[in-house]
This record gives sequence, structure tokens and C-alpha cells, in this order.
Amino acid sequence: MKLLVTGGAGYIGSCVGTVLVAQHHEVVVLDDLSTGFADAVPDGAEFVQGDITTAADVLGRGGFDGVLHFAAKSQVGESVAKPDLYWRTNVTGSMALLDAMRVHDVPRLVFSSTAATYGEPEAVPITEDARTKPTSPYGASKLAVDMMITDYAAAFGLGAVSLRYFNVGGALADRGERHDPESHLVPLVIDAATGARGRLQVFGDDWPTEDGTCVRDYVHINDLAAAHVLALAATTAGKHQIFNLGSGDGYSVLQMLSAVERVSGVPVPYDVTGRRAGDTARLVASSSKIRNELGWDPTFTIDDIVRDAWVFRTGKPTV
Ligand SMILES: NC(=O)c1ccc[n+]([C@@H]2O[C@H](COP(=O)([O-])OP(=O)(O)OC[C@H]3O[C@@H](n4cnc5c(N)ncnc54)[C@H](O)[C@@H]3O)[C@@H](O)[C@H]2O)c1
Repeated sequence: MKLLVTGGAGYIGSCVGTVLVAQHHEVVVLDDLSTGFADAVPDGAEFVQGDITTAADVLGRGGFDGVLHFAAKSQVGESVAKPDLYWRTNVTGSMALLDAMRVHDVPRLVFSSTAATYGEPEAVPITEDARTKPTSPYGASKLAVDMMITDYAAAFGLGAVSLRYFNVGGALADRGERHDPESHLVPLVIDAATGARGRLQVFGDDWPTEDGTCVRDYVHINDLAAAHVLALAATTAGKHQIFNLGSGDGYSVLQMLSAVERVSGVPVPYDVTGRRAGDTARLVASSSKIRNELGWDPTFTIDDIVRDAWVFRTGKPTV
């Protein structure tokens, strides 16, 4: 297929784009490099530097079979301080993309949604029919896009799949996570182990979990890429399907720290500080829907996630 990958210079878009090129799809990346890197654009993909609001210029060339829409602002804290940036980029930007797809008859969309659309869960594991009550402008902006996609699919025949990622980790051999500032746990634990950043701050050990630290659900970038390939094939004209993308297993902050120590052989210095505002004890996906309906079958373990992230981030082998 001929595919537009927005945000293909970022962590997830560059990795999924690399997998798509390897599967012989023709990939065009549109990215403004606001948080991405030109050298992350998949080898073999065409790179257009620009804002998503200019998607019509690319799609207007014709022949596109689908769009994978990763481009977004995605820092929860930043979204509280700069809601205008989040509503403009994530909502106005996505609307411009959807309108360009409509004008140029692009039939398929796979959208990077997020667990942040649910907010504080009433029950865990979180199913797709759980209440959506986001607690940040980031989550609200992504939920708004999901709602927009539902309406565009119903009215204009778009075939769309939203994947609500929980936590994504791991790396390909030459592409991985390079957020700045980094807010994700796995790279932060690795940096604490290598001394690249001070001691790890663990936000509270008095949560109602097995060891008192927060529990999250992690998916390896390779398993996430496989879900995108399945989603692309599952798009159906006029239908918007929403799937959680989590493993269904939860790991605490201290379990992740132990995993880094286990695969690297390096101790991770840490301090327990107070709880962080807005945190939640346990965020774990129900992955039944995507397993049952798309046949998604993740195979990478927590140690795989940590090992591949370690090798990418440090350039050093594990033990
Ligand atoms: N990383 C996670 O664990 C996670 C979890 C849930 C959802 N997501 C979603 O996945 C997607 C990708 O996340 P990521 O971690 O790869 O982030 P990232 O910041 O590494 O990648 C985003 C890319 O989009 C580009 N971009 C941003 N605004 C743009 C604009 N206006 N026009 C064109 N390009 C623009 C950036 O330059 C960057 O290359 C995002 O939509 C994010 O909300 C990520």
C-alpha cells in the first residue's frame, strides 16, 4: 500500500514506519521535527518536513491507500501548561488531516489514541467501553479526535481504527525512544543506572498495589507495530473501531527497576519521593478485544522491552 505516516520521525512512527517499509509498503513521512529527528525517518521512506495541516499537499499527489497518524503533542504536564498547543496540534491538526483525506479519497486511517482518554479508571483492567473522563488537556484532545473520527467514518465512509496505547517501550536495532524531556519510565530507569541522569525518583510507595508503587501496562514496539499492520488490514469503510493496546499485564515501578537491573547487571539508585499529582495506582488494559477481533498476539516480554531499550539507549550489550 501507499501510506502516509505522520509523525514518522518520532519514536513510535519511525519504528512502525520501518516495519512497514520492510513489508514493502511505500511510505511517505510527514513530520515537522518539533519533537522528532530527521535521522529517525525510516530508511527507504520519503520524508516531507511540514506541519500536519499541510497534509493535503502530500495526499493531493494521489494514490494513497491509507494514513497512519502518529503526529501529536503527547506530554501530559505540558498539556496542562499549554492547552492551546494541544488543542491546535492534536485536534485542529487532525481535523485538517481528515479533511485532506476526504478531499483526496484516502480510504483508511489508523490513529494513535491513548489510555489517557479514560482518565481515572472505575475498574481495572480497562475495557474499551469504560467511561472516558480524561484528566488532562492531552487526554481530552485525543478523545476529541476519536469522537471526530467516529463522525467522519459514519458520514463520509472513512474506514478507521484507533489504537489506545497504554505504555510503549523497547526499540528496534537502530530506532528507539529519544523524547526530550523524557517522561517515560524505562528510559528514565536506564539513565539512572548509567548515571546519565541522577537517581531515579519513585513517586510514592504507599499506593494500593503489591509493593506500593504504581502499576502500568507495557507493550514492546515490535508488538505495537504488528498491531498497526493488523489494524490497517481490518479497516472497514464507514466504521470506526477502537481497541486498547496493552498487554493485559501490570508491572510496578519497582518491578521495572528490577528488570533493568536483571538484564543490565547494573544497580539502579533510586529515592522514593511523594506521590505525583494526577497519578493513578494501576492502569492496565483489557487486551481481549484486539486479541479476539484482530488476532493480535504479543510475544515480547518485559525483559525484551528493557533489554532492547538498554541496547538502544546505551549502545552497550546486556549481560
Ligand atoms: N510513547 C507512548 O508511550 C505513547 C502512549 C500513548 C499514546 N502515544 C501516542 O503515540 C504517538 C507517537 O508518540 P511518540 O512517543 O512517538 O512521540 P514523539 O514525540 O516521539 O513523536 C511524535 C512525532 O510527531 C511530530 N509532530 C508533532 N507535532 C507535529 C505537527 N504539528 N506536524 C507534523 N509533525 C508533528 C514530532 O516531530 C514527532 O516526530 C502520539 O500521537 C502519542 O500521543 C504514545
